[in-house]
Amino acid sequence: MSEGASKKEEKPRKFQAIRGTRDLLPPDTALWNRVEQTAHEVFGTFGFGEIRPPIFEPTELFARSIGQDTDVVSKEMYTFTDGPSNLPEQPDEFNIGQFFEAVGEDLEKGEIPKTAANERAIQRMKAAFAEFAEESRRLPLGFFQEQHEGDFAKAYNEKMYRAIYLANKISRGEVVSLRPEATASVCRAYIEHGMNSLPQPVKLYYMGPMFRRERPQKGRYRQFYQIGAEVLGGSDAPAIDAEVIEMVMTFFDRLGLQGVQLDINSIGDRNCRPKYVELLRAELLKVKDRLGPDSQRRIETNPLRVLDSKLESEQGIIAKLPRIADHLCEECAAHYAAVKHQLEMRGVIYRENWRLVRGLDYYMRTTFEITAQGLGSQNAVCGGGRYDGLVELLGGPPTKGIGFAIGEDRLILSLQESGKAPTQQGRDVYIAWMGERAHATAIRAAKDLRKAGFSVELPPVEQKFGKALGQADKLGAKYALILGDNEVSEGLWTLKTLADGSQAKFTELDLLEHLRKQETL
Ligand code: HAM
Repeated sequence: MSEGASKKEEKPRKFQAIRGTRDLLPPDTALWNRVEQTAHEVFGTFGFGEIRPPIFEPTELFARSIGQDTDVVSKEMYTFTDGPSNLPEQPDEFNIGQFFEAVGEDLEKGEIPKTAANERAIQRMKAAFAEFAEESRRLPLGFFQEQHEGDFAKAYNEKMYRAIYLANKISRGEVVSLRPEATASVCRAYIEHGMNSLPQPVKLYYMGPMFRRERPQKGRYRQFYQIGAEVLGGSDAPAIDAEVIEMVMTFFDRLGLQGVQLDINSIGDRNCRPKYVELLRAELLKVKDRLGPDSQRRIETNPLRVLDSKLESEQGIIAKLPRIADHLCEECAAHYAAVKHQLEMRGVIYRENWRLVRGLDYYMRTTFEITAQGLGSQNAVCGGGRYDGLVELLGGPPTKGIGFAIGEDRLILSLQESGKAPTQQGRDVYIAWMGERAHATAIRAAKDLRKAGFSVELPPVEQKFGKALGQADKLGAKYALILGDNEVSEGLWTLKTLADGSQAKFTELDLLEHLRKQETL
């Protein structure tokens, strides 16, 4: 087949957004911006400042905070080695020499970790490589054309595999993950920037993309967006828990979110939770046969998660299990009672839900979740709770912490379902111009109108007036500004109101004045 013919048959690949990711487009993005702007405003009134942490962090940060055995860490993270690109991916017989040289350079440049363990690993690989190189030099001529057999082959292969084995022991760089959430990053930043020496508590909020490799469905994506806030340091006064919750509720209220339902719970602390978990495990073992495979597995790994089960057949069994509220230690019970009281003082309506356990390990005491309407099975639009001790677990000083994250994709979906989304925003003015002189005037008019804050469409090439008006209509413009030879020479511009077809003439100055007046009507 000729080259031309084969090229013809090769269809270019059609690229699509990767499964679980999507493009956010106008007019939806206008709603995203409104939501984010409202968050900046509302959170600002509660004294929160914005933090923008990086999108990837050491995998270990998430494993330690969220918990190695959680679904998020054990199954859902996008993880890769942040290593230099000049190292062959997989060292083998043919590139081991190149690997050997590159490792040396990378270590020099600090491109691979300069730890004692790594320097040792590199020394061992170097020694093994030298032996392998020596062996290669002793190979008889024509060795590579023959099968690798005989004594030479044995010694050669042994040394080669040993060098490759040791090359694989070298750490090429940090193992990093795309962030599945941001609480861990905020705690890392709190420690890194010594924020414990600022006036406490430190109140931070963030918004941005998070990544979890979950099964995509309505309201569940692999790249999704969160708006979250964290209060770090200071005391664990129940009023802090209540104020954080009040802030989310105020935000949702400001946006007009419908069917908002706040569920709260306390999951105890290091003192009382382990005893409750053991009791729960013992009770679950008694009914193990009647549970599904997931719950059966969780009896061992994390009995609390059984309470999360949505399986119809398990609901009757779960209803009879011991409840954590009856097993809180005195301090936790008092804290929980005070949080409820504080919520009442703020007029925040809540429902107690003893089955509300969250899927991340760092929580203690107060946990909460908020659902909204129009979301189907993925109806949690916000989740949060207290996590005293997390900063310490990450190497910082003992620090109290509480926060939440809102699923922005779900928030937007719910607002759209309940008709709270803005409709497509049309242009204010479409400038229909004809002729070179009119073009120059049109450019000036567009500049002035835009400066005054109007949205203007200025066609790049001349169009017949009929076509231009049709185009203005399609774009949903409110007005067409008609500029032809007559208008330019008379200094009187024609403004057509597209809704009713009426027309009027204005001088340049009067036009701006007129449009401004119309805007304020
Ligand atoms: P989370 O419950 O894992 O908590 O996530 C919070 C919210 O993010 C969920 O309620 C949901 O609205 C949204 N979300 C989670 N996964 C997805 C997904 N795959 N697609 C769409 N939306 C999703 C946390 O992330 C904690 N860091 C919250 C927190 C902050 N706790 C204390 N401080």
